[in-house]
Amino acid sequence: MVDVILGLQWGDEGKGKIVDYFAPQYDVIARFQGGPNAGHTLYVNGEKVVLHQIPSGIFHQHTVNLIGSGVVLDPVTLKRECDRVAQFGIDVRKNLFISERTNLILPTHRALDKASELSKGESKIGSTLKGIGPAYMDKTGRNAIRVGDILDKSFTTQYIKLRLKHQKLLDNFHFIEDISAWEEEFFEALEFLRTLNIVNGEYFINEQIAKGKKVLAEGAQGTMLDIDFGTFPFVTSSNTISAGVCTGLGVAPQKIKEVLGVTKAYCTRVGSGPFPTELFDATGEELRKIGNEFGATTGRPRRCGWIDLVALKYTCMVNGVTQVVMTKADVLDAFSELQACTEYLVNGQPSAYVPYQMSRVTIEPRYQKFAGWHTATDAIKNPEALPTAMHEYIKFINQFVQAPVKYVSNGPGREQIVHL
Ligand code: GDP
Ligand code: IMO
Ligand code: MG
Repeated sequence: MVDVILGLQWGDEGKGKIVDYFAPQYDVIARFQGGPNAGHTLYVNGEKVVLHQIPSGIFHQHTVNLIGSGVVLDPVTLKRECDRVAQFGIDVRKNLFISERTNLILPTHRALDKASELSKGESKIGSTLKGIGPAYMDKTGRNAIRVGDILDKSFTTQYIKLRLKHQKLLDNFHFIEDISAWEEEFFEALEFLRTLNIVNGEYFINEQIAKGKKVLAEGAQGTMLDIDFGTFPFVTSSNTISAGVCTGLGVAPQKIKEVLGVTKAYCTRVGSGPFPTELFDATGEELRKIGNEFGATTGRPRRCGWIDLVALKYTCMVNGVTQVVMTKADVLDAFSELQACTEYLVNGQPSAYVPYQMSRVTIEPRYQKFAGWHTATDAIKNPEALPTAMHEYIKFINQFVQAPVKYVSNGPGREQIVHL
């Protein structure tokens, strides 16, 4: 049996914290897509940790953590992260497993990401520059090198061949940068990777399922960044939706039970691209300040706005969300009035749908207003103690998106969550 936790907006919904909270109820936590573009923040013994490659169950000693086939892996980031978790007494050789089909991010993928973004100028995607796009292009282009290959004697030949190909592409971009230092740390990190548990991911996970173990699939990014269903081309390069669990882990659809979708009580986006409810005023600034909305991976300020229920209904639909987790509700404590977008005016015409090409039309959001609760909620543990105005806000969301908000997260700490 597999449950899923994934993002319903443009990423950074608080997935890491939520996975960490639920991890004790599961035997296996598995990342199924994305790579070091993800930044999942957890608090361990009050200390902040940001995970990019390792699943967010790593701090629970009994939990098995799997980096699945659908992930793209930068060995350098992985090594750095393993050193970080070791500071908490975690031995990754005991509870971290990596699928041999996981695709590698090479130093030249990072260079290509940078070169591609530079060439786009104003219309850049706002990529995290971690090499995600180029690495997935080599996967679908059938050129990639995978984790299992590093154990094979053909590895060096494969590397040289792909590097040469990348060099030609970089030359086309007129990209001149010395990446020898990147390559040096890459090869060092490969030595380390060879010492970790490299497994056949699909047998590994299906055997766990057959034994009756509970698996939690951890999504990265968010549904509006999905390569197929997001705000293309301003998206990432993987399937961030629940269907990505099947292709990313090698599990069958009927094995998936609960799909927990995580949304902020408002909305943020980092990087370029359409964001209908973005606020450019003092309210947007306040959300950023109170919510501490700065990227966990790149430190960039996140764009902020009110919750977009047109988009949220769409993302609940494409994922088959069975339960919604609403995070950062405490951030709204300061506001006397809230708004939620319930309709778009697309080129002046009212619409309840997310348009196919959001960046080619004008979208004016129409809002429903709500009374704020204007009281501190971050210490609340019981649903009855949550303010009536918050219950009203949630009730409206439940009805609108046709999926129930079952959990409200009211602070970054592991214990700051209310089960409705
Ligand atoms: P992820 O990528 O979805 O895991 O989210 P990030 O870690 O990138 O960003 C979420 C940020 O919000 C982190 O700094 C978390 O510590 C913080 N956070 C998560 N849940 C809550 C919450 O309920 N309230 C507040 N105030 N902060 C939260
Ligand atoms: P988590 O898992 C927020 C955004 C980037 C950029 C676009 C493409 O922490 O929620 P990429 O590096 O994938 O080529 O960038 O996607 N992006 C994210 N935004 N959270 C993330 O991950 C993101 N991963 C990528 O900012 O707009
Ligand atoms: Mg993040």
